[in-house]
Amino acid sequence: MIPQTSSRASRPQPLTPEAIQSGLKTKQFGQTLHVYDRIKSTNTTALALAEQGAPEGTVILADSQTQGRGRMGRHWISPPDVNLYLSIILRPDGDPQRIGLWPLAAAVAVARTIEQATTLPARLKWPNDILIHGKKVSGLLLESAIRNGRFNYLVLGVGLNVNLTRDVLPDSLRNSVTSLRKELGRELDRVELLQRLLEQLELQYQSFQTEPPRKVLEAYRTLSETLGRPVTVLDHAGEWTGEAVGLTPEGALILRRDDQKEVIIRSEDVVHVRPSHAARD
Ligand code: BTN
Repeated sequence: MIPQTSSRASRPQPLTPEAIQSGLKTKQFGQTLHVYDRIKSTNTTALALAEQGAPEGTVILADSQTQGRGRMGRHWISPPDVNLYLSIILRPDGDPQRIGLWPLAAAVAVARTIEQATTLPARLKWPNDILIHGKKVSGLLLESAIRNGRFNYLVLGVGLNVNLTRDVLPDSLRNSVTSLRKELGRELDRVELLQRLLEQLELQYQSFQTEPPRKVLEAYRTLSETLGRPVTVLDHAGEWTGEAVGLTPEGALILRRDDQKEVIIRSEDVVHVRPSHAARD
């Protein structure tokens, strides 16, 4: 478990490269590290650095973002001093077809980090939202560049609500978003959490590259909040209700619609997936 922050009240501990790298047990992830106080979006900066040839495992971290981006062009609320906003540059060898599985593997890594650091029960909402007690605590944004049928690079962005308090959230998100602090009732040390997160992500990335795809799917299934549940899926073609019955080998969701027809839902097409009984995303 990660201990409480040493500051008694809520004086935020600064995210400095020295503090982060001094206790970091990774080979690559975060060994090249760019830390910003304030930045538009760590993913945007990571994409630019990747284009310039930054090495695999380079991490871009910001204390706050002015234009944090979520899936489907959504905004990611990124106030200073409280959360983790980071992007990692990856240069995988594998077949780009398989990459649908990597966000699932990364979601497993985030969930495991949370569980190990806090003992809170982190669960996964397909495709890659991390929930605690049904509320979103973390989201992933994956962006890639493919050239000649191979990955040139891939950027994994992670937003994790660590010490966020409700008052900074708009009313519309208060019932669906949470933070580790809110669930635990105490603050967490962001530096230690980041170190553990980078270690887990690196571990998952290595397994992902070497193990058969079914391993990722097995790990994902055990943490899934979506599979076996009645869900409503909104995609570009419309809104469907049914049961989430499985995952394809590529990590797409298999939905058995109410008319018993099974359809495959790809994460790129999904606006949201929600439990059928819930009022909103
Ligand atoms: C989502 O759930 O919609 C994905 C959210 C991803 C947010 C992170 S914060 C760090 C990185 N930089 C961004 O602009 N977005 C990702």
